[in-house]
Amino acid sequence: MNKSIDNDKNTEIIENNENNEKMQTVKIKPNTVEELSKIKEEIKSSLKEEINVIYYFSGTGNSYYVARELAKVLSNNNGKGTKTNTKIIPIANEIKKEQITCGSDRIIFIYPVYGFGVPEIVESFIKRLNMERNPKIYSIATCGKMAGGVHCQVDKLLKEKKQQLNAGYTVQMPSNYILAFSAPSQSKIIEILDDTDIRVKELGNLIQSNEKNNAMDSIIAKISTGAFYPFWKKSLYKFDEKFKISKACNLCENCVEICPVSNIEIVDNEKLENNDRIIYKHKCQECMGCIQTCPTRAIIYGSSAKRKSYFNPRVEINELIEANKGIINQ
Ligand SMILES: Cc1cc2nc3c(=O)[nH]c(=O)nc-3n(C[C@H](O)[C@H](O)[C@H](O)COP(=O)(O)O)c2cc1C
Ligand code: SF4
Ligand code: SF4
Repeated sequence: MNKSIDNDKNTEIIENNENNEKMQTVKIKPNTVEELSKIKEEIKSSLKEEINVIYYFSGTGNSYYVARELAKVLSNNNGKGTKTNTKIIPIANEIKKEQITCGSDRIIFIYPVYGFGVPEIVESFIKRLNMERNPKIYSIATCGKMAGGVHCQVDKLLKEKKQQLNAGYTVQMPSNYILAFSAPSQSKIIEILDDTDIRVKELGNLIQSNEKNNAMDSIIAKISTGAFYPFWKKSLYKFDEKFKISKACNLCENCVEICPVSNIEIVDNEKLENNDRIIYKHKCQECMGCIQTCPTRAIIYGSSAKRKSYFNPRVEINELIEANKGIINQ
């Protein structure tokens, strides 16, 4: 293989040694300033990586499921040839940091609706999050039936930080509110989750194309939030006083592990009955994780024991435990 430079044409000529046949000519310098800046732009865009961060909170797997599946959609090629990197970060773990900063291109909050509003932990997290780079911000609420004015609530929190929501979307999922509802039948759950899969793909495409939606919540939705959310929030910190643990408790520690806010402890005193060793520490978020996943149904709240329990069947309990601790998806 021979190499030579043709200065007139500003090219490098590569020839095959055996028959001097010209193999390839390569331009070695751009001729004009325009050409140079075009090359620079091409290199820059081929190196650019879009970074999406999904911050989620989830007690029984629904919002985590949406986060996990949406990350898959967003990480597929976005059609513009730009690489996309999507991280899933658990709010329950991230909020423990002293400083919370995010420098991504897009931020997506995914959370369950509680009392027609945003979970308290999500609200506190948004207040503390420092957002760099002017990201495009999305709110995705999972709910049983009625989300209330959650997206306007998130938008208001963002405006206080000189940011705003690009779009807010709602995904209807099986309700985990066992204090009032039983889990739907198996076939209904499958039907709802199949619809969720379709909805998540749709949302992924909307987010990738930076689609905006300004009319996020209806007037009625906002009124229901105004009417119910303050009451829900007021009772939140006393909520766990009403949990009762039955003699069925076998100290398996599942409740300690699943609680996203480390609100449950097992007292180190073997002289006590098992059920007297479970302590709730009054920082409950009302996520229902403990009550829905206790393997012996020993955790009781009002008439919850009469109802069928729910945990998203497409998420392993251990997967959510590990994800919430930031052990996976990092
Ligand atoms: C305390 C509490 C309040 C809830 N309030 C509402 C509500 O106002 N509207 C609604 O449609 N669903 C409501 N739900 C149902 C959840 O929003 C829904 O099942 C959600 O998908 C659960 O998400 P997760 O599995 O990620 O925790 C509530 C659930 C709980 C635990
Ligand atoms: S999950 Fe249920 S059985 Fe296990 S320690 Fe907690 S209350 Fe007891
Ligand atoms: S104590 Fe139970 S309901 Fe409360 S935050 Fe922990 S897991 Fe959720």
